[in-house]
Amino acid sequence: TALVVAIDGPSGSGKSSVSKAVARALGLAYLDTGAMYRAATWWCREQGVPLDDAAAVAAVVRAMPLVMGVDPEAPGVHVDGTDVGAAIRRTEISSIVSAVATNLEVRAELGRLQRAAIDAERAGGFSHGRGIVAEGRDITTVVAPDADVRVLLTASEEARLARRALEVHGAADAAAVEATRDQVVRRDADDSAVVQFHVAADGVATVDSSALDFDETVRAVLDVVVQ
Ligand code: CDP
Repeated sequence: TALVVAIDGPSGSGKSSVSKAVARALGLAYLDTGAMYRAATWWCREQGVPLDDAAAVAAVVRAMPLVMGVDPEAPGVHVDGTDVGAAIRRTEISSIVSAVATNLEVRAELGRLQRAAIDAERAGGFSHGRGIVAEGRDITTVVAPDADVRVLLTASEEARLARRALEVHGAADAAAVEATRDQVVRRDADDSAVVQFHVAADGVATVDSSALDFDETVRAVLDVVVQ
């Protein structure tokens, strides 16, 4: 029977890399829901829609030809046949994605697609029915509150800033950390207007990775899965 693992957490918590490794270890599919919000943002720009026009943004996202890969080894993201995997991680997108992610009609549409991807893996799909690890901001609470395993992956602001700085600037010195602050702290604050991902909901296990390295964090999440 299929196993559904939901993992939420703030920016820089290590969610994506940890979730991918957990999916690999368990032979499950992997869904990066943040990539869907990023792809929607990329597509809105491509289509020239002003992000403050909520109705127009929602219409464009509803018609978005998005194909999400769920192979944890290579989770491709394509929009209208274009591989947008690299483009959606750029600062131009990171700095405006919250404007699209706080659009409630966009959330309803992408949430519906996420739910469908999870159900497809329950029934067969890439994992042959073994299941899926889905990660984001509202998977444990809104998209899959019925998941078999629900984890909130947290880390101190200091640890999250240092990790993001290393990812984006290749260094975690004071200047790199400051340059990252807007991305991490401001974006999380903007996102918090519509989704709550700083405190674990009822029944959601918290894994604090502040003092753990990558392998230890993966193991801590796998420990929650086998409990
Ligand atoms: O890696 P990081 O946590 O910084 O970002 P991400 O997971 O790629 O998510 C990018 C953005 O998508 C977030 O800042 C949110 O605005 C939005 N998002 C969301 O609203 N709900 C989700 N379930 C996942 C992402």
